[in-house]
Amino acid sequence: MIQGRPSTTALRAATYRAQHQMLDQPLVFVDPLAVKILSPLGPLKLPPRTSPVRAWAAARGRFAEDALDAARSRGCTQYVILGAGLDTFAYRHTGAYRHTGSSLPVFEVDHADTQAWKRSLLRQAGIAEPPQVTYVAVDFTHQALVPELLRAGFLPNEPAFFSWLGVTPYLHESAVWETVAAIRGLHPRNEIVFDYLVERAGLSWRSRLAHRIIEWYVARLGEPLRFLSAPPAIRTNLERIGFATVDDLDCPALNECYFRNRPDRLRIAGRIARIVHARP
Ligand SMILES: C[S@@+](CC[C@H](N)C(=O)[O-])C[C@H]1O[C@@H](n2cnc3c(N)ncnc32)[C@H](O)[C@@H]1O
Repeated sequence: MIQGRPSTTALRAATYRAQHQMLDQPLVFVDPLAVKILSPLGPLKLPPRTSPVRAWAAARGRFAEDALDAARSRGCTQYVILGAGLDTFAYRHTGAYRHTGSSLPVFEVDHADTQAWKRSLLRQAGIAEPPQVTYVAVDFTHQALVPELLRAGFLPNEPAFFSWLGVTPYLHESAVWETVAAIRGLHPRNEIVFDYLVERAGLSWRSRLAHRIIEWYVARLGEPLRFLSAPPAIRTNLERIGFATVDDLDCPALNECYFRNRPDRLRIAGRIARIVHARP
């Protein structure tokens, strides 16, 4: 992150979700506000072809919200979106959350600069901030998450679901595991979904090349890559921290879940990223 500026990768991720709404049928991730939140920035550029990165953005959003649904049925009563960027969940679920009959408190945690920018986009786009959303400004590299969450009204004695999409690659490894351990330490029934980039060793030359391109690209945007991991290390760390169930999906598994038999052939390419759901 460049101090004093909102995250450029947050804008990229939101743009992919918005393009998905306009270009792809059937939708993998249904987000009626994805286009609207970007409307103050002018007309959306629409690429002529399907894109594996757009597929990834759609799949990880869908995976996280499917996991949230399951966590709700297991009793999670709060939703914390870490590195929320331009995520619109809170604005799509302003009343009772699905079958539960009650609204779901949402804590949007992000770098202060990205959060201020998002709130100004919401205002300009005419999207109201619902009462159940709380904004928590945290810089994961310099601040501990838990004290800020508690100060914002998060209930530590209630189980919560956390999503952390598109953020771990930009953090130091210590910040990633300290944050995950803090989440587990808050409540034994807490659950988390996060995505991560797979370390290069063992990847095909094509995936290693894709890795290099992403590394170069995000560094140019002021958000250099810092955290890459091998899948066994992710599992070992999550189990050490105390999560008993770890689902760690690669791109082919996500393609199988969400992109089977599509006429437009939208799908994720390669194996450079994965998404994990850790729970008791
Ligand atoms: C790629 S964006 C993802 C945004 C959102 N989760 C999504 O999927 O659209 C990365 C997000 O991480 C946040 N972020 C990056 N480094 C951070 C840090 N050190 N502390 C807090 N947030 C950070 C950025 O502000 C941005 O919102």
